[in-house]
Amino acid sequence: LLLLPLLAAAAPYGSFPGPLRSPQRRWPVPYRRFDYRPKADPYCQARYTFCPTGSAIPVMKKEDVIEVYRLQTPVWEFKYGDLLGHLKIMHDAVGFKSSLTGRNYTMEWYELFQLGNCTFPHLRPGMDAPFWCNQGAACFYEGIDDAHWKENGTLVHVTTISGTMFNEMAKWVKYDNETGIYYETWTVKASPNKQATVWFDSYECSKFILRTYQKLADLGAVFKRVQTNYTSIILFSGEPVYLGNETSIFGPLGNRTLAADVRDFYDPFKPYQTVREFFVGLVKIIDRVILNHEFYLFYNLEYWFLPMKFPYLKIVYEEIPLPVGNKTAFGV
Ligand SMILES: *[C@@H]1O[C@H](CO)[C@@H](O)[C@H](O)[C@H]1NC(C)=O
Ligand SMILES: *[C@@H]1O[C@H](CO)[C@@H](O)[C@H](O)[C@H]1NC(C)=O
Ligand SMILES: *[C@@H]1O[C@H](CO)[C@@H](O)[C@H](O)[C@H]1NC(C)=O
Ligand SMILES: *[C@@H]1O[C@H](CO)[C@@H](O)[C@H](O)[C@H]1NC(C)=O
Ligand SMILES: *[C@@H]1O[C@H](CO)[C@@H](O)[C@H](O)[C@H]1NC(C)=O
Ligand SMILES: *[C@@H]1O[C@H](CO)[C@@H](O)[C@H](O)[C@H]1NC(C)=O
Ligand SMILES: *[C@@H]1O[C@H](CO)[C@@H](O)[C@H](O)[C@H]1NC(C)=O
Ligand SMILES: *[C@@H]1O[C@H](CO)[C@@H](O)[C@H](O)[C@H]1NC(C)=O
Repeated sequence: LLLLPLLAAAAPYGSFPGPLRSPQRRWPVPYRRFDYRPKADPYCQARYTFCPTGSAIPVMKKEDVIEVYRLQTPVWEFKYGDLLGHLKIMHDAVGFKSSLTGRNYTMEWYELFQLGNCTFPHLRPGMDAPFWCNQGAACFYEGIDDAHWKENGTLVHVTTISGTMFNEMAKWVKYDNETGIYYETWTVKASPNKQATVWFDSYECSKFILRTYQKLADLGAVFKRVQTNYTSIILFSGEPVYLGNETSIFGPLGNRTLAADVRDFYDPFKPYQTVREFFVGLVKIIDRVILNHEFYLFYNLEYWFLPMKFPYLKIVYEEIPLPVGNKTAFGV
């Protein structure tokens, strides 16, 4: 009997049929894409209008030469004891400047109803299931506010592309924006080691910028060598356990104990807050998570149980290098 887990581990691709082991999971769990973006529920009301000056992405002339900028600015910085140290929570965007028209543009991806609403649900009276206002989307607008990005952040030229490449990127942004709908705050890993298994990847502003750079590299963009660091909010846990979706947990056939546990878990965390209050709330989670070694994660509209382990939660500001491009196909 003792040998069984070892054998199963040696043959991980399902050569043991039947109930010997659970179906092989793919880690990290792939982020789910949808066919289209549903309208947000009217219960979700933004305190600050999403993308107030947004516009459609313009079609550029083929022969245009467009400079691409990395933009980054702190959302919130604070010091929290030795556990988290000095936290640098950065927001990322990308800038474009057309040399034919002299106009410039900013593109970013962020929460429709702010970070608190994307991270914690509302427990509404008369509703069993926690209620989420967790959409995020891309926002494109004319202008780059140099002072805003430069003051304590970054505004740096990273590559130059052609109008054709820009127009191809615009098509991809449309697809990406229609199919990648829900914001995911947390990265979940097995340990702080670089090689540790990643159970879940976050899906937030910086991931959109990384995808955009990768798309440009695939189109032939060659990036400069500059160090590019990004913020990640990481939870540490043993292998996650799949629990089910809203219907299977909170519906008529659901397990009442589990449903109550999930609601209880989210009870202390209020989503209404400002960014500052959010991080104060985040610090409260640590206490609760350390005490109980448990976390209920909502990812792809499904719930997972995370058996939490030391060091539980970390906020890191680490390098993810710019992509290494392949040979230019569209030219600049
Ligand atoms: C979070 O969602 C609630 C419910 O719609 C809303 O009242 C609140 O304004 C939202 N918070 C922010 C910061 O937008
Ligand atoms: C992305 O989708 C949102 C929500 O539908 C929309 O407001 C926004 O304009 C779209 N962004 C782009 C760049 O098309
Ligand atoms: C973007 O355009 C504005 C307005 O013309 C200008 O003030 C700013 O310096 C430009 N920024 C960049 C990075 O091109
Ligand atoms: C930039 O940093 C300075 C000094 O720490 C601070 O006073 C200022 O408010 C910061 N500006 C922004 C936009 O965060
Ligand atoms: C660059 O590589 C990517 C991925 O390997 C590929 O999809 C793309 O077609 C390539 N682009 C060019 C311009 O060679
Ligand atoms: C929820 O899970 C059940 C059982 O696994 C499945 O039949 C159902 O289609 C799922 N519902 C949604 C909305 O994904
Ligand atoms: C119901 O959920 C609880 C808490 O997660 C669990 O301990 C129990 O085994 C579950 N019961 C059934 C019948 O699945
Ligand atoms: C950027 O990331 C690198 C490697 O991940 C790290 O060594 C460096 O200290 C980071 N820079 C800042 C300013 O935190």
